[in-house]
Formats: sequence, C-alpha cells, structure tokens
Amino acid sequence: MLTSAQAAPDRTGAGSIAPVSPAAEVFAIRDLTKVFGDEQPYIALDRVDLTVPSGEFLCLLGASGCGKSTLLNLMAGFEQPTAGELLYRGQRIRGPGKERVVFFQDAGAALLPWQTVQQNVEFGLRLQGQFHRDRQRRAEACLSLVGLLEHRHKVPSEISGGMRQRLQIARALAVEPDVFLMDEPFGALDAITRRRMHGALLEVWQRTRRTIVFVTHDILEALILADRVAVMSTGPGSRIAHLMTIDLERPRHPGDPRLGRYFEQLEDILHTAAPSA
Ligand SMILES: Nc1ncnc2c1ncn2[C@@H]1O[C@H](COP(=O)(O)OP(=O)(O)OP(=O)(O)O)[C@@H](O)[C@H]1O
Ligand SMILES: [Mg+2]
Repeated sequence: MLTSAQAAPDRTGAGSIAPVSPAAEVFAIRDLTKVFGDEQPYIALDRVDLTVPSGEFLCLLGASGCGKSTLLNLMAGFEQPTAGELLYRGQRIRGPGKERVVFFQDAGAALLPWQTVQQNVEFGLRLQGQFHRDRQRRAEACLSLVGLLEHRHKVPSEISGGMRQRLQIARALAVEPDVFLMDEPFGALDAITRRRMHGALLEVWQRTRRTIVFVTHDILEALILADRVAVMSTGPGSRIAHLMTIDLERPRHPGDPRLGRYFEQLEDILHTAAPSA
C-alpha cells in the first residue's frame, strides 16, 4: 500500500493527473469570525485559527450545528467572513474558484441526469474548451481512477449511489482542482458502500496529492481518513478546540487498538469541547 508521502506509479493511464507540489500552505485562517443575521446576530465561528498545508487530508469533526459547514463554505468562497483573515495560497478568498471544488452529500444533484457517465466527466472539460480527443482521453483516465470506466455509457440513474459519488470524484478530478472540499459526502450511503468510498477516496488522494478538507461528525470516519483531525467546539462561538495528528499508516482498520486509543481521546475531546466564552 502507498505511503502518504508518495504517489503510486500510474497503472490506469491517468498519467496526466499531475501531483501537486507539496510545498505551500493551502489555507491560512486567522481570527476568523462569522456572524449570521443582523437583528438577532448569531456568532457561528469565533476567532478560528487553522492552517492547512498542501496535500493534507484534514477532517473537520464536531457535533451537529457547531459550524463545520460554515467553515467549509467560507473556504469555498460561498460565504464571506465577518472578521479575520481567510487566505487560499496567500490570497484573500473573494468567491468560489474552480481550484476549490465542493462535494455535496447528494451526488445526484451535482450530475447531469440526461448525460452519460463519460459525458458528465467531460462536461467541465468542454467548458474549458478542450478538444474532443483530449476530453475523451482525460475523462477515461479519471473514470478509470475511480473504477467506473466500464460503466461510462450508462446515465446516472443506472448506477448506484456509491458509483454516483465516485462519478462526482472523477468529474472533479478531470478539471484538476487543487483542493477538494467535502461536506459529509458519504453520510447518506450504507456502511459497506461508505467503507468502499473511503478506500476509493484515499487511493485518489494518495495518487494525486490533492488537499482534502472533509467534514464529518463521525469519529471513526475521521480516523480512517485523516492526517489531522480538527475538532470544533460546540457553538455559539465555535473554535478549533483541538488539532490531532493521526500517526497511523493506511489502510487503517477499525479493529486496530491504536485506532481505538485515538477514538477514546477524540471522544473525550468532543465531550469537553464546551462552548467558547
Ligand atoms: N445562513 C445562515 N443564517 C443563519 N444562521 C446560520 C446560517 N447558516 C448556518 N447558521 C447557523 O450557524 C450554526 C452552524 O451551522 P453549520 O451548518 O455550519 O453547522 P454544522 O456543524 O455543519 O452542522 P451539521 O453537522 O448539522 O451539518 C448553526 O447554529 C446554524 O443554525
Ligand atoms: Mg453541516
């Protein structure tokens, strides 16, 4: 199995998916505050500090309503900070950008239902003005990477929920984003499909070295996936209560006692992640 520091040799013809340089930091977040509403202001995030280095798999973990999606939406540029600094590769985030692709739980909503699996992947490349041959080759490489090549002639309604999520990943990969922002993307899948998706996502990540920020409220999911887990305190005024590095090789197994020890620590931190003053 691959180490997180090394991309695998290409076996799928996806050689054009270039690894990203692991040098610079992708997000630099300082004193980030987000307040919703004017009449009755609600402080969702209160002076959040977080740095995400290039190539990292970071999980944002916290209870429902603690502000995970708010933070992710700020990183995506869907929302603007009330105060503080939010930089993407050294630049202030002023809005969404194609280098920061966002994944939603409902993959179906993100896909074009009347187009085939392959056409769905080619769609973004068509917008970029790529020629038919190049589009086709790149789409096939990305579909191969997520194990969907043989299903390329089907339409989204003819493939399963897990396959639709894999298609969403292939589609994002095709346009070569720098960052994947994923908001509980596998929350609606059954346990077996979810585990398969973890494997598929980790393989894509290890081969392409994209930076991933992945929101979850599931401790085990965070432990299977993350380099680091950022635990958010419960709101109002949520902050990063704790940053934990998961120093375990992949693939990780739920039955591993070392993983169990991380689980207990995270559970304690979540329980004591009291609202900020
Ligand atoms: N547009 C908005 N207007 C007002 N309040 C909002 C808005 N968006 C989020 N909030 C509030 O901010 C807080 C954080 O919401 P957010 O959706 O970020 O939580 P979350 O951690 O993603 O929760 P979940 O795990 O349930 O998805 C909540 O109290 C929510 O009601
Ligand atoms: Mg949310």
